[in-house]
Amino acid sequence: MRDSIKVFAPATVANVVCGFDVLGFAVDTPGDEVIMRRRLEPGVVISKITGDDGKLPLDPKKNTVSASVRHYLQHINREDIGVDIELHKKMPIGSGLGSSSASTVAGLFAMNTLLNNPLSPNELVPFAMKGEELACGTGHADNVAPALLGGFVLIRSYEPLDIISLPFPKELHCALVFPDVDVPTRDARRMIRNTVQLKDAVTQWGNVAGLVSGLFMNDIDLIGRSMQDAIIEPVRSILIPNFYRLKEIALENGAVGFGISGSGPSVFAFTKSNETAIAITQKLQRHLTNIHIANQTYVSAINAKGPRIVD
Ligand code: HSE
Repeated sequence: MRDSIKVFAPATVANVVCGFDVLGFAVDTPGDEVIMRRRLEPGVVISKITGDDGKLPLDPKKNTVSASVRHYLQHINREDIGVDIELHKKMPIGSGLGSSSASTVAGLFAMNTLLNNPLSPNELVPFAMKGEELACGTGHADNVAPALLGGFVLIRSYEPLDIISLPFPKELHCALVFPDVDVPTRDARRMIRNTVQLKDAVTQWGNVAGLVSGLFMNDIDLIGRSMQDAIIEPVRSILIPNFYRLKEIALENGAVGFGISGSGPSVFAFTKSNETAIAITQKLQRHLTNIHIANQTYVSAINAKGPRIVD
């Protein structure tokens, strides 16, 4: 059995515009890294966090990585195990890119691998959801499930948990832009109304079904047409500087669809090629820089694998 491991887990785009809390996909970049080492005494310790500007707690009960690993060890009756965790944040926190999810998933995948995989990636999802609950108050799975399983994921049901991996067109690429404004997921969830008009619900479930059909049919234009959100986007877009102008720029420059990534403030566009995704991130970046909003951009294909061991 190995004594230490380094794991990368990917950022994710949750909701995919029309599928609030039920759709998500993983990207190749960015992502977080965890180094986990066995120690002699039982217990989970966080010894080091980098890249977080001191924002994340080192207390093992409060840190999402250690807290979810503790739940996992309890569940498999291995509280005799001791590990030391280093977390290396390689993406912005509170960005809507599934930052807490990437860290938590890297930690759980590392622990499960060190113990020779007693649980399947699917079985790890509930423990990763515990981390989300700690980070933002609700244990949604639309970041952690694609981060763990890779690719596109549908959470058909939460109770009981029913997670479906979906196929996707190989030429689908993603342009991601993080405008550096503060939008904590906890707050972005509080601003959503609890009731939905029937006509908006009809629009929404038509689009969710359209998007899933587009994924199965390899029809990128159908995927793009279905990226419309009558419920969440009109509310959350208020928190994103020039959201509708950014959308216009992306669509004018070849995006098939555009929307908020997770709870924002990051936005993403789907394209049919890497080149178009690069051109769109450059245009969006220029616009944000012109209005004095610091930003970071990423271009990625869909990550089919999820977490991986880094040598
Ligand atoms: N579905 C969640 C939300 C994702 O939109 O609040 C958070 O990244």
